[in-house]
Amino acid sequence: MGQANSGGHPSAGCETFDWDVARRMLAGLPGGGLNIAHEAADRHVADGNGHRPALLCLGRRYERRQLSYLDLADGSGRVAAFLQRLGLNKGDVVAVLLDRSAEFFLAALGTWKAGGVFCPLFSAFGPGPLKSRLELARARVLITSSGLYQRKVAAIRAALPELTHVVTVAESGESPSGCLDFAALMAAQTPQPAIATAESDPALLHFTSGTAGTPKGAIHSHRCVLSLLVSARQVFDLTADDVYWCTADPGWVTGSAYGIIAPLVNGCLSVVDEAEFDTRRWYGILKDEKVTVWYTTPTNIRLMMRFGAALARSYRQNSLRVAASVGEPLNREAVAWGEKALGVPFLDTWWQTETGAIAIANRAGCTHPGSMGKPLPGIETALITFEHGRLSVAEQPEAIGELALKANLPSLFLGYLGDPARTEASFADGWYLTGDQVRRDAAGCIWFVGRSDDMIKSAAHTIGPFEVECALMNHPAVAETGVVGKPDLLLREVPVAFVSVNPGFEAGESLRLELLSFARQELGSALAPREILFVESLPKTNTGKIMRRVLKAKASSEPDEDDPIGTALCPGRFDDE
Ligand code: WT7
Repeated sequence: MGQANSGGHPSAGCETFDWDVARRMLAGLPGGGLNIAHEAADRHVADGNGHRPALLCLGRRYERRQLSYLDLADGSGRVAAFLQRLGLNKGDVVAVLLDRSAEFFLAALGTWKAGGVFCPLFSAFGPGPLKSRLELARARVLITSSGLYQRKVAAIRAALPELTHVVTVAESGESPSGCLDFAALMAAQTPQPAIATAESDPALLHFTSGTAGTPKGAIHSHRCVLSLLVSARQVFDLTADDVYWCTADPGWVTGSAYGIIAPLVNGCLSVVDEAEFDTRRWYGILKDEKVTVWYTTPTNIRLMMRFGAALARSYRQNSLRVAASVGEPLNREAVAWGEKALGVPFLDTWWQTETGAIAIANRAGCTHPGSMGKPLPGIETALITFEHGRLSVAEQPEAIGELALKANLPSLFLGYLGDPARTEASFADGWYLTGDQVRRDAAGCIWFVGRSDDMIKSAAHTIGPFEVECALMNHPAVAETGVVGKPDLLLREVPVAFVSVNPGFEAGESLRLELLSFARQELGSALAPREILFVESLPKTNTGKIMRRVLKAKASSEPDEDDPIGTALCPGRFDDE
C-alpha cells in the first residue's frame, strides 16, 4: 500500500476528504455535463456575481483594464460563437500564442465553451518549436497577436496545412494578410453558452518536453477543474474575496491551471501583468493592488532576494496572506526570506504538467522549509523502487524512491497525444510514475532529490535536451551535440551545448557566436543554449547513446564567466542584514 496521506494543516491528522463530496462544489452544466468555462465564468453570473471583478489587466505602461465575471462570460461566449462559425468541431485544437492579456483568458474560455481543446504556446518559442507543436497538435485554429504572428508564425504558416484559420489580436492597424481580426469577429457574434461537454472530454493540451523524440502533448479533460478548485482552497485558502496574482507565463501549464482556471472557479479577482519581471514593479503591484495570494517561482524569488529585504519591506502592506512557489526546489533560506521581507513564508508546492494540479504542498500554518510539504488531502502518493524490474512501494521512514501518484486523481492527464506507448510507460500497477526521485521523512514531508531523466530546469520551465540538440544538428558545422543543464544561481540551470564540429569548420569564437545566434533564431530565447562548449568527441555508452550525465558533471565544473571566483555562491550574499 502507498502512504495514505495526511495533508499538512495543523489539524492534518483529522482532515477527512472525499472527492464525491468535493464534486458538489461544482455547478455542472444546466443540462448535465461539465465544462471548465461554465464553472469559471457563467456559473458566477448565474449565482448573481456577474458584477464582481474577475481580471485586472495591467499593460506594460500600467494601463488598467478590468473585466467582471459578466464580461468574461460575454466575451468567451463570443469567442465560442466565432470558433463555431469558423467550423470548429468538438475536440478540435485551438492553439493560443499570446502574452498575458485579457484576450488570453477569453480565448481559453471561448475554446472550452465551443467544446475545443485549448493548447497554449509560449511566446518565447522560436519558429521551430512552434511549428513542431502546432503540427503535433494538428491545430485547426491559432489565436495570436498581429506582432507575434509576423515575427514567429508567418514564415511557417505554409508548412501547416491543417491550420485553417489564424485569428489575430490587432496591435496596430489592420490584421496581417491571411488572418482574421479578433475584435471584429467578437463584435459580429451573439454570445453563446457552453456546449454540452462531458467531464471526460479533452479540454487542454500542454506540451512538455521529453528526453528523446518530439515534445509530449499531455491531454487533460474538463474534470481537472475539480482538482484546481479544491487545491487552490487547500493550499491558498482561496476565496471570492481574494486578490490573487499568478506570475506564470501563459504558455506553460501553470498559466492555464493556476493563471486561469483555479482563480476563476473560486470567483476571486486575478491580477494579470503583461510586463516581464521587474523587482520594483512587482513590489509595487503587490502593494498597490493589495494582493492577498501570490503564486510565483523560485527564480523570481531569487531575483527579488538579490535586491535585499529592506527594499521589499519598504513596499510592504498587510494584505498579503499567502505567497507560494512552484517549478523547482525552494531552499529554506528563500522560505525564511519571505517571512522577513514580505511578512509571510513562501510555501513550496509540487506538481507537474501531467498531474494537472498541485499534489504536494506546504500549507499555511504548517510549513516544512526546504521540503515540498505533504500530499494534499485526497491525494495518495507512494515512493516506488524497481528491483529486478519488479515494482515495490517503500514504506520505511527516510525512504528514497520515485514519486508515484494513485492514478485515480481527477486532474491526472488522459495520456500523451498520439503516443500510447509513452503513456503506458508512465503507469505501473495503478500508479502514475512522475520521474522525480524524492525522500519522505519520518513526518511524512516529501523532499526533492532529483529527476530520474535528463530534463533541464531553467527558470522553473522544463527543457528537453533532445529538442535543442535536434535544432543544433541542423547547422552544417555541427557533427554531434549533447545538451545539458549547467547549474545557475538564479535560473537553477541554463542549457549548454557540447559540440563537436565537422571537418572543414574551425571550433573557434566566431563559430561559437554563430551557433548561439543560430540556435536563438530557431528555438527562441526559451530553449536556446546559453553556451557552446567545443569538444573533440562526445562521451557515449556502448550502444552509442550520448552520456549526458558525464557532460553534466563537466558543465558543472566549468567556471561561471560572470562570476569567476564564485562569490555568488557565498551564503548571505542575498541578505542585506
Ligand atoms: C517538474 C514538472 C509545476 C508546474 C510547472 C512545471 C519539477 C515542480 C517542484 C518543486 C522541486 C519541482 C519536478 C517536476 N518541480 N515543482 N516544488 N520542487 N521540483 O511543470 O514542466 O511539467 O515540470 O518540475 O521535477 O516533475 P513541468
